[in-house]
Amino acid sequence: PTSVRLAVIPGDGIGPEVVNEGLKVLNAAVGNEVSFETTEYDLGARLWHKTGETLPDSVLAEIRQHDVILLGAIGDPGVPSGVLERGLLLRLRFTLDHYVNLRPARLYPGVTSPLAPHVLENGLDFVVVREGTEGPYVGNGGAVRTGTPHEIATEVSVNTAFGIDRVVRDAFRRAAARPRKHLTLVHKHNVLTHAGHLWRRTVEAVNAEFPDVTTDYLHVDAATIFMVQNPGRFDVIVTDNLFGDIITDIAGAIAGGIGLAASGNINPDRSAAPSMFEPVHGSAPDIAGQGKADPTATVLSVGMLLEHIGLDKAAQKVEQAVAEDLAARGDRVRTTSEIGEAIASRLA
Ligand code: IPM
Ligand code: MN
Repeated sequence: PTSVRLAVIPGDGIGPEVVNEGLKVLNAAVGNEVSFETTEYDLGARLWHKTGETLPDSVLAEIRQHDVILLGAIGDPGVPSGVLERGLLLRLRFTLDHYVNLRPARLYPGVTSPLAPHVLENGLDFVVVREGTEGPYVGNGGAVRTGTPHEIATEVSVNTAFGIDRVVRDAFRRAAARPRKHLTLVHKHNVLTHAGHLWRRTVEAVNAEFPDVTTDYLHVDAATIFMVQNPGRFDVIVTDNLFGDIITDIAGAIAGGIGLAASGNINPDRSAAPSMFEPVHGSAPDIAGQGKADPTATVLSVGMLLEHIGLDKAAQKVEQAVAEDLAARGDRVRTTSEIGEAIASRLA
């Protein structure tokens, strides 16, 4: 049996609870076929309170030695906003060059969407390829005249031809592999003229290499309207880091809630760095430790993780087990571990 080195970062709030269930399902899905060497890293609010550190260099170097990473959630009301986000989550995404932030949105049978049935006539099954290493997330900014009425704060969005080209190519590859073969660029080129045109030109240029993929363009504001009025029009969406952050929360909401939304922070070159899989939701401190969190988003992220490391059969089994669980779910309220166990037992 092959062996996979898995780094697990449970993180804050509900992170450890949902990760626990994700690992249960992972073990049930792979059986004896593959052995997982798991290392757990206690990063997040606890470490920061104890030592003031978010991600020590030595820990980052260790994490890098793994094949893949599973992360629960990062964020805590007792830590100043941005400290853990920048110092831990974004640092991992940036240093491991997770330029493809992959966020599928699919309405599973049995799941209730807040959208009216007629809006869902064309289905809801799309995937957002969110750029993960650039945009306004890079921290290229600052403030002057701080605390005065004339304070100026800037947050410069970084868009490189290299960074756009590689993520657009990835999105085209994914679109070409799907039945509908359609790619939508979401941006705001009527206002963000510099970056917007670079994105647009890149999509046009790469499209020449993928002639069977059809493309269109939406401004991000219009995209939010379509997302709630005709989500079936979307197949693959490619967009920048911040627009992608925003529209994937809408995507999660319309596909049955953020408790089901999975994601991968992917570096497609598996030999370059480990990719990291995590639920789209946050640490939800208000319900932490109560067994109320839905672990399904983490379980689906485990499915994406398995696919990324080439365990396609196990990945499909996980998705199938989740689909069955969702179809059978009804209105009964179950605890975090009840849901995890129900899904895992479908894999046994
Ligand atoms: C997400 C989160 C993060 C992001 C935050 C916590 C930094 O909202 O994964 O969508 O903005 O990317
Ligand atoms: Mn977000």
